[in-house]
Amino acid sequence: MRPVKIVNPAKVSNGFNKLTGGAILVANKIRHAIMGYRTPRPFDAGQIARAVDYDFSVVGGWLDCLGQYCGDAAGLSGRRVLELGPGADLGVGLILLSMGAAKYTAFDVHNLAESAGEEFYDALFEKLSPQTDIEALRRELALAHNGSPNTLRYQCSSDFDLSVLDEGSIDLIVSQAAFEHFDDLERTIDQMTKLASPGAVLVCEIDLATHTRWIRDRDPLNIYRHSDAFYDRMKFRGSPNRVRPEEYRKMLADAGWSDIQQYPLAVLDENYMSRVSPTLAKKFRSKTNEMECLSIALCARINT
Ligand SMILES: C[S@@+](CC[C@H](N)C(=O)[O-])C[C@H]1O[C@@H](n2cnc3c(N)ncnc32)[C@H](O)[C@@H]1O
Repeated sequence: MRPVKIVNPAKVSNGFNKLTGGAILVANKIRHAIMGYRTPRPFDAGQIARAVDYDFSVVGGWLDCLGQYCGDAAGLSGRRVLELGPGADLGVGLILLSMGAAKYTAFDVHNLAESAGEEFYDALFEKLSPQTDIEALRRELALAHNGSPNTLRYQCSSDFDLSVLDEGSIDLIVSQAAFEHFDDLERTIDQMTKLASPGAVLVCEIDLATHTRWIRDRDPLNIYRHSDAFYDRMKFRGSPNRVRPEEYRKMLADAGWSDIQQYPLAVLDENYMSRVSPTLAKKFRSKTNEMECLSIALCARINT
């Protein structure tokens, strides 16, 4: 398993951070109203090598968790995979197919992947193992783009209604930095449960920190400083939902997922936490919120 990253922002200025964060929430709301949703990747789409590396690292992260969670049974071979919120391209899907997945379906609310061009896919294919049948993957990509998908499918729907997919048709559900954006998690998790085949596994990485770039490094818990009344007024579709790990675990358990395991990926330093925790909005001050967790992976399975 990857080592847990300990984060210790240099300065703590609670009052200033709360004010600045509030101003950023207002600015983000206005920007979203004018420009719509932007995927908050920390680099721009023109950085092709970086985007390719990112996709490999995402798959590597999931496999790492799966290895820890399922041991020998972690292989992708023959698995029908669903990715929720794939973002900017279908690179992850192509990598999973190259590793033996039988089918990959990506489901999103925004059609972000249409912007990924040939240059990106050429660079990705170059990085795949030399044994890969690249021509076969190119055909799958072309079929997906032409609207007649075979093993690679990309579906977007503004209401994020997963019930359009076939029940019991998915063996592995994966997601990276997307759950924290979902509007109606209970509905999404219930729908995931119906799609899962007996023994299906979920692995998702959830980014629990503040997303806006500048303040994220200085004050990672900034979004938790604000009251529900203010945060809800500044919310827009796709802004972080502030759902905490305990709530995710409960929703999964209530929907019938079992053996739920949580792996911390990035946590805040203890001293830093003791200075910041008492200044968060009241509902986020208790230990049960695990506010030290900035990023986690969750694994769970549906019983056979
Ligand atoms: C931070 S991006 C992550 C994308 C990709 N997994 C990655 O790691 O780059 C968040 C993803 O969640 C999706 N998303 C945003 N708001 C959503 C919503 N309200 N419901 C469902 N998905 C949403 C976005 O379209 C995007 O694919």
